[in-house]
Amino acid sequence: MCSFTVPPAVLQLFLLLFLASPATACTEQEKRNLLQFLAGLSSDGGLATSWCNNGADCCEWEGISCNGDGAVTGVSLESKGLEGPISPFLTNLTSLLHINLSHNSLSGGLPAELMFSRSIIVLDVSFSRLNGPLPELPSLVTTDRPLQVLNISSNQFGSEFPSATWKVMKNLIALNTSNNSFSGHIPSSLCVSSPSLALLDLSYNQLSGDIPNTLGNCSKLKVLKAGNNHLSGILPVEIFHATSLEYLSFPNNGGLQGELDGAHIVKLSSLLILDLGGNSFSGAIPESIGQLRRLEELHLGSNNMSGELPSTMSNCTNLKTIDLKINNLTGDLGKVNFATLQNLKSLDLMENNLGGIVPESIYSCSNLTALRLSANHFHGEISSRIGNLKHLSFLSISRNSFTNITKALHALKSCRNISTLLIGRNFMNEAMPQDESIDGFQNLQFLAMHQCSLTGRIPTWLSKLTRLKVLVLSKNQLTGPMPSWINSLNNLFHLDVSNNSLSGKIPVTLMEMAMLKLDKPAIYLDPSLVDLDLLIYAVDASKLQYRINSDWCKVLNLGNNKFTGVIPQEIGQLKALLYLNLSSNNFYGEIPQSIGNLTNLQRLDLSNNHLTGEIPAALEILHFLSEFNISNNDLEGPIPTTGQLSTFQASSFNGNPKLCGPMLINHCSSVEAAPISIVSAKKCSSKVIFVTAFGVFFGVGVLYDQLVLFRYFG
Ligand SMILES: *[C@@H]1O[C@H](CO)[C@@H](O)[C@H](O)[C@H]1NC(C)=O
Ligand SMILES: *[C@@H]1O[C@H](CO)[C@@H](O)[C@H](O)[C@H]1NC(C)=O
Ligand SMILES: *[C@@H]1O[C@H](CO)[C@@H](O)[C@H](O)[C@H]1NC(C)=O
Ligand SMILES: *[C@@H]1O[C@H](CO)[C@@H](O)[C@H](O)[C@H]1NC(C)=O
Ligand SMILES: *[C@@H]1O[C@H](CO)[C@@H](O)[C@H](O)[C@H]1NC(C)=O
Ligand SMILES: *[C@@H]1O[C@H](CO)[C@@H](O)[C@H](O)[C@H]1NC(C)=O
Ligand SMILES: *[C@@H]1O[C@H](CO)[C@@H](O)[C@H](O)[C@H]1NC(C)=O
Ligand SMILES: *[C@@H]1O[C@H](CO)[C@@H](O)[C@H](O)[C@H]1NC(C)=O
Ligand SMILES: *[C@@H]1O[C@H](CO)[C@@H](O)[C@H](O)[C@H]1NC(C)=O
Ligand SMILES: *[C@@H]1O[C@H](CO)[C@@H](O)[C@H](O)[C@H]1NC(C)=O
Ligand SMILES: *[C@@H]1O[C@H](CO)[C@@H](O)[C@H](O)[C@H]1NC(C)=O
Ligand SMILES: *[C@@H]1O[C@H](CO)[C@@H](O)[C@H](O)[C@H]1NC(C)=O
Repeated sequence: MCSFTVPPAVLQLFLLLFLASPATACTEQEKRNLLQFLAGLSSDGGLATSWCNNGADCCEWEGISCNGDGAVTGVSLESKGLEGPISPFLTNLTSLLHINLSHNSLSGGLPAELMFSRSIIVLDVSFSRLNGPLPELPSLVTTDRPLQVLNISSNQFGSEFPSATWKVMKNLIALNTSNNSFSGHIPSSLCVSSPSLALLDLSYNQLSGDIPNTLGNCSKLKVLKAGNNHLSGILPVEIFHATSLEYLSFPNNGGLQGELDGAHIVKLSSLLILDLGGNSFSGAIPESIGQLRRLEELHLGSNNMSGELPSTMSNCTNLKTIDLKINNLTGDLGKVNFATLQNLKSLDLMENNLGGIVPESIYSCSNLTALRLSANHFHGEISSRIGNLKHLSFLSISRNSFTNITKALHALKSCRNISTLLIGRNFMNEAMPQDESIDGFQNLQFLAMHQCSLTGRIPTWLSKLTRLKVLVLSKNQLTGPMPSWINSLNNLFHLDVSNNSLSGKIPVTLMEMAMLKLDKPAIYLDPSLVDLDLLIYAVDASKLQYRINSDWCKVLNLGNNKFTGVIPQEIGQLKALLYLNLSSNNFYGEIPQSIGNLTNLQRLDLSNNHLTGEIPAALEILHFLSEFNISNNDLEGPIPTTGQLSTFQASSFNGNPKLCGPMLINHCSSVEAAPISIVSAKKCSSKVIFVTAFGVFFGVGVLYDQLVLFRYFG
């Protein structure tokens, strides 16, 4: 480091520069303090070298700014790869006004000398690895401190949220402590002691208790965020005295309750964003919401709201996002005139008790990109005007009572941008449209038409949807063969046609599906998909498992149909498969040895067929197998006593009278007890739930578990 082991040549250069420097050159004292700060770090990310190269005047050093007297006033060392503790020597820089050390890997605590400095106005240490409690007010500090901006967000601070500290922070304007692990209560003194507070972000911590009513004394407060904590109780009426509020956000606290009082809420006439989702609020959405003319985002999803959608909502013409999913809203949606909501991009009404037909006015919201009406009581036809929604990328109408699938698909094919289309559990007992003129859908990646009892064959128009990744046609009454063009869908990696009446032999082309042949344990979604923030859930009874952005279920589910023939050897080519279900068909012949090549397999179901012969020894090497079922076939011989198969219960093997093994009544004559090896593996259920595109469509900062797209998929 420069000051300690400076080679003579460099020293000369330093002196030269020092002498050549103008009068504002930094003082030796200041320089020493900066070098002490540097010396305190465990890794400086090359800063020492940079400072060295910048000469002797520390006012010229990277990230350092000075005043006219050569005193350091600013230290801006964000994203410099700094590691280790923040040396208290920084506080010896007595003219320091601004410190920005954000986006580093600093560790240890925040020195009290910095927080209670007599000079510092802005202190930003966000996005680092600082930990420990936040310094409490030292008894020596009695006078007000100049600190205006304190950003300690996205660190690892913990313990009780300090309360006394704020007593001397009369000048505080912005306080962001989000994304740490603070516990305790929101201090009630906050706005009383810091009357200038305009931004307060306490979200993503472990705060509990009530929302203090003194927050209403923050007359300057514009942004108040305390979501993703464990707060409980009601929104105190005093909070509506903070009439400067533009952003009021308490999502995902779970326990917040009470009704939204219309008379109070109108006082917040500057409100742009209201986010109370993921709580226990009840009662109706107040009529007066229509007076919040500036409102852009309304998030009341996952509460216990009831009553009708107020028609006054159409007065909130700036609305971009409406999220009312998972509530108990009732009535006819037709009462709201959506035509005035020309800025609307995302409308989410999933899981309510709304009914009636979808109002035509929705189709004039030409900027709509995401529309989710699933799990309500809507009926009628999808208007051909839906084709006007050129930006529509996500549509879910699952679990309603819509009719006329032919009309719906003809209308939707004009939505050029549609990538996700979930229409299952509607159109009961209609005929699967076979019409070749169904084209378009050039961007469709996810298509679910399950549980509609649709009749007819798997239609050929599907073969043109070459970007399709997920195709779900389960629980219909489809007949005819598995089409041989199936491998032309070369992006497809999840095919579920279970619970139909499909027949014939399975085509060899099914064993040629490009995405299932890739020998990769997980498909990492390409950037365009990551963009959509796609998620998949596997639901296993009450158990939810997340597969976020990476581990998509590669599934081939032909279960419960009338397929026949032998299982082709070539099935061993589908190495990417995690779940293979051929159960409840009429397959006969032997289980191909090559299934042992499907080494990623987690679930294998061949039950209820007419399979014969012995269990191939090759299956023993399927180490990830956590579910296995070959029951009700005509298999014979011993169950392997080593490897993964030996860990399954009798129920996996029952109904094969000629099979023997230690777990069956039918013990083999000369086999020893099997060594048990248990390999735990994640399950990959066929019952997938797509939790799709919320980053883009369904708004900001919502937790994954709030975003179940359709819960009872399949
Ligand atoms: C600088 O700070 C250190 C640590 O806080 C302290 O021990 C030292 O006395 C200070 N030096 C001066 C000259 O203020
Ligand atoms: C600190 O630096 C980061 C990165 O340049 C910047 O985004 C942030 O706004 C700065 N903080 C303050 C308080 O200006
Ligand atoms: C920290 O918070 C302040 C005040 O809101 C803000 O100006 C600054 O940009 C934030 N820093 C980063 C790195 O985002
Ligand atoms: C607080 O900081 C986090 C990052 O740590 C940021 O995402 C958030 O937007 C900030 N809050 C406000 C209100 O600016
Ligand atoms: C929370 O902090 C971690 C660690 O700094 C960071 O990776 C993450 O992005 C932050 N989350 C948010 C919501 O800002
Ligand atoms: C806080 O606001 C309430 C009215 O909401 C007022 O009665 C009280 O005096 C205020 N407290 C302080 C300390 O300003
Ligand atoms: C939901 O709201 C209804 C009335 O609107 C109320 O009777 C019920 O207790 C609430 N349920 C919960 C869990 O808060
Ligand atoms: C607000 O909405 C209501 C109901 O839709 C309507 O009668 C009223 O005229 C609207 N007010 C204004 C000012 O547009
Ligand atoms: C939803 O509201 C209806 C009628 O208002 C009521 O019968 C039903 O119990 C409510 N459901 C829940 C889950 O609160
Ligand atoms: C639709 O969105 C675009 C930008 O996304 C915007 O320029 C345009 O004004 C919006 N249209 C309407 C009718 O609001
Ligand atoms: C479905 O809609 C089309 C087009 O509007 C119409 O021709 C057809 O008769 C409708 N089918 C049924 C069953 O209503
Ligand atoms: C697949 O399985 C067959 C039969 O067990 C075996 O002969 C073949 O070598 C395997 N192929 C690969 C690529 O592992």
